[in-house]
Amino acid sequence: MAVREIKKFPDEVLRQKSIPIEDYTSETDSLIQDMIETMYCASGIGLAAPQVAEPMRIIVIDTSWKEDGNPLLVLINPEIIEGSGYTDSEEGCLSVPQYLATVKRTANILVRGYDRNMKPIEIQCDGLLARVVQHEIDHLNGILFFDHLSLIKREFFKKRYLKSLSKQ
Ligand code: NI
Repeated sequence: MAVREIKKFPDEVLRQKSIPIEDYTSETDSLIQDMIETMYCASGIGLAAPQVAEPMRIIVIDTSWKEDGNPLLVLINPEIIEGSGYTDSEEGCLSVPQYLATVKRTANILVRGYDRNMKPIEIQCDGLLARVVQHEIDHLNGILFFDHLSLIKREFFKKRYLKSLSKQ
């Protein structure tokens, strides 16, 4: 097990479309283990494989320290199959440090995927969990949370963010 480096915007890997897992190998298993460790180490509530430079359709989520009741969730090849309602809330991302923005998301979703034993699972999500699942699945499609903002807000953010990077 190892903590991996979290790639930061504008790293190209964050814009790739991740590929589905077809064979669960020992490498898949160590990647998942490392993702869990990396997420906890960074005090995150979710992490997608492309964030550690592996463009594969795997997400790990643990919202339990922010919202009770949801244990560690590993989802392979996740897909949202139903959704209803909308909700606005503030979001951040480990790949876009020190930036928060209010993002509109679907309030209730039904997500389908595979667990670590490649057993099919379906989970009904709401609240913070539904938001994080959508945020992490976006990562698998090369979408970052600020892509959901208005053009003006997005341009303002990019200018400020890239300026702060150039100062480091
Ligand atoms: Ni993120």
